[in-house]
Formats: sequence, C-alpha cells, structure tokens
Amino acid sequence: MKKLWGGRFTKSAEDWVEAFGASIPFDQQLVMQDIEGSLAHVSMLDACGIISADEAKQIQDGLLTLQKKAAAGELTYHVENEDIHLNLEKHLIDLIGPVGGKLHTGRSRNDQVATDMHLYLREEIKEIAASIRHFQQVLLDVAEANVETLIPGYTHLQRAQPVSFAHHIMAYFWMLDRDYERLNDSLKRVNQSPLGAGALAGTTFPINREMTAEALGFAGIYQNSLDAVSDRDFIIEFLSDAAMIMMHLSRFCEELILWSSKEFNFIEMDDAFATGSSIMPQKKNPDMAELIRGKTGRVYGHLMGLLTVMKGTPLAYNKDMQEDKEGMFDAVTTVKGSLKIFAGMIETMTVNSEHMKAEVHNDFSNATELADYLANKGVPFREAHEIVGKLVLQCIQKGIYLKDLSLEEYKATHSAFDDDIYHDLDPFTVVDRRNSAGGTGFSAVRKAIEVGKQVLKN
Ligand code: ARG
Repeated sequence: MKKLWGGRFTKSAEDWVEAFGASIPFDQQLVMQDIEGSLAHVSMLDACGIISADEAKQIQDGLLTLQKKAAAGELTYHVENEDIHLNLEKHLIDLIGPVGGKLHTGRSRNDQVATDMHLYLREEIKEIAASIRHFQQVLLDVAEANVETLIPGYTHLQRAQPVSFAHHIMAYFWMLDRDYERLNDSLKRVNQSPLGAGALAGTTFPINREMTAEALGFAGIYQNSLDAVSDRDFIIEFLSDAAMIMMHLSRFCEELILWSSKEFNFIEMDDAFATGSSIMPQKKNPDMAELIRGKTGRVYGHLMGLLTVMKGTPLAYNKDMQEDKEGMFDAVTTVKGSLKIFAGMIETMTVNSEHMKAEVHNDFSNATELADYLANKGVPFREAHEIVGKLVLQCIQKGIYLKDLSLEEYKATHSAFDDDIYHDLDPFTVVDRRNSAGGTGFSAVRKAIEVGKQVLKN
C-alpha cells in the first residue's frame, strides 16, 4: 500500500516489519487528543493565511466528522497506516479529498505526538488528582469515626507505643496529600505546548504557536523546538509521581493484609473486596490489597523503562520515543484502578476496635510511660529506663503485664512509684497524653482532622 510518506521509497516493508514498527495498536487511545490538536492547528493555519478559509472549513468539517465517528467507536485503524496520526490523516483525505493533505502544513508528527501526549496526561493527571481527593475524604471519615479507637503502634514491626487508629489512618491522608501536591505541581510542566516545533527545527510558514497553545488551553509554549519534540520529562515525572502513589498504597496494602490475618485480627475486609479459596473453604483472602501491592511493581517498571529509553537518545526525535506510550497508559490505568478499589476497601472494612483495645491492654507498649513517670519524679531517664526494663523482664518471667504488678512490687523497685501509676499505664492515658503538634493525643488528632478537612475544602 502507498504510504503517506512513500515518495522516496522504491519498495515497501514486509507486513511483519511494518507491524513491528506500528504504534496504532496502542496509540489509538490518543484519537481524541489528536483530533483536538488538528482542529487547533487548522484554525491557526487559516488565521495566519497559510491556507484559505474555505480549505480550513473543509478540513474542520472532516475532522469533526471523524471526531463523531471516533466517539461512536466507528473509526477503523490499520497497521499499514502505522500510527494514530497517519490513520487519521488517511481517513481525512479519504473523506474530503486531497485538500485534507493541507492539514499537515507547518507541522510534523513529532510535534503532533508530543502535543497529544501533553493533552492526554493533562486530563489524566487531573482525574487521578480528583481520585486522590476522594480517597482522602474516605480516610478522613474513617479517622473521624475512630479517634478514640486504640491500636498498637509499631516500630520494627514490634509493638512500640499505642496510638489512635485515626492517627494511623491520617498518616496515609498526608502521604496522599503530598502525592496530590506533586501531581498538581507537575501540571505546570505538562501544560506547555510543543505544537509548531515542526519535526525539530521550526517551520518556514508564518505560524502562530501562541494561538494554538491558547486554543488547546496550554499555559505557554516550549521555547526550543528541539526540546519541544524530544522532551519526555513530563511523562517520566508523571511516572515518578505514579510510582510514589503506588508505593504509598502498597505500604497501606501490606498493613491491611497483616491486619486482616488471624494473628492481628484488627480489621475485616468486606466480602465485596475479598475472595475465597478453591480448595480451603475457610479462606477469605485480601486479594485486592495484594494485587495493588503487586501492581506497584509494574508502575516502578514503567518508570525505569522510560528513563532507560531516554538515556541514550540524541536530539531530537528518535523512534525509541514511541516506547513512551504503553507504560504511560498502563500506569494511568493502574493508578486510577488502584485508587478506586482502595477507597472502596477502606470505606467498607470492619474495624475490630474491641479486639484492638484488648490487644493494647495486653502488651508492654506502655513501658515508655512508666519510664517517663519516674523521670517526671526526678529519676534520670537512663536510670528510669533501666528500672522499667527490669520490671518488664520480671513480668515476662511471670507471664503478666506491667498493669498486673502490685504497688508493693513497684515500690520495692523504686520508692518514687505511687498508686497513680495504674492510671498512667492505661493505654488510653498513654495515647491521650501525646498532644504535641502532630502527635497521637486525641485532641491533637482531632485538630489534625480539622486541618485535613480544610485541605480538602481548598
Ligand atoms: N508513532 C510515533 C511515536 O509514537 C509518532 C511520531 C513519529 N515520527 C516519526 N518521525 N517517525 O513516536
């Protein structure tokens, strides 16, 4: 078949070679962006007197027809036409005749594809940011309902100090908030127009790049044509943001998986977000959380993939860059899907607050409190630490906890102990005393939830 670029060729590539080079199987996802870019370009060609108003009208009508067909899923794509740009140009020429060939005046597929990607990511980033906001709202709701629910806090996955469950949940709220901020900030760089850079060097036609940039809602234009067509930083940046989001979700998944085990038993996933086993009738597996944890790997992979694609490419466009798309599309789908599933999982999970409470009452996570108690009575903290360490050892040997030691036993260890220690040892007291800014005390947590609400309002 005759190529749109076939002039200097004497024979055509074999089908299997053609198929290897084609991007149409995946870049057809950019059909709407490509048409949008072409509409802006043709209006500019008209306004700048590069093509006639009549020609522009014919091309615009043709593009609008293609747009409708694409929306209805009626456009067909062919590997012989390589990519979305040539497929659409071919459709246009078939539809309106040779005048359709004027659309490509003063542009190249190189600035065209870059424009499509910028338009695509701009929308997707906004959608992902909105999903993050929704997820944050879900986290806020769970936090608000669980300010006084206690859960063991861990370091090294060893019980450390009890915390408010809301505090734990809000930690993820703030992680996600940074993710939101990062995405928002990246829009500055995504929202720049490469259109009009041509193949690499600009064009002899008296085009107006600001005009197409404005029509497409871009905040500005790339200042250098070589950079405009060969920059993929904005995609790498997105993939990096996506990787960070997935890393946060994956950590949370790991906790949900642990928490829903019999060993922890802190939460129960709703049936709608769990699956059974084909052999073991008792099983209820936290599949969705495991899957999100697993999918994190592919998003990291896409980031490393594109960084590697770009590292050895000289200026300007190289066909290597066609490899920027599948990873980006997949990262978008993965992040969006994961955020949606996550919000559902969190919204519907059961918090086993009674069990959590029983657990924090039966461990040594109040030991720091006891050391602080002595320190407050003038015992040097190092010494207090040693004394409490000995008491813990005594308890372990007897199979009891600090609250179970008698006042006599305490007094025998240090005279500064009094019967108010039992109040201090209560996990509820332990948590509620930590009202330093950002701490787990109930009033500190309530304050943080209010700040969180303000964040979502703005
Ligand atoms: N399909 C190509 C890509 O995705 C479009 C740009 C092709 N440009 C070229 N000079 N072959 O990168």
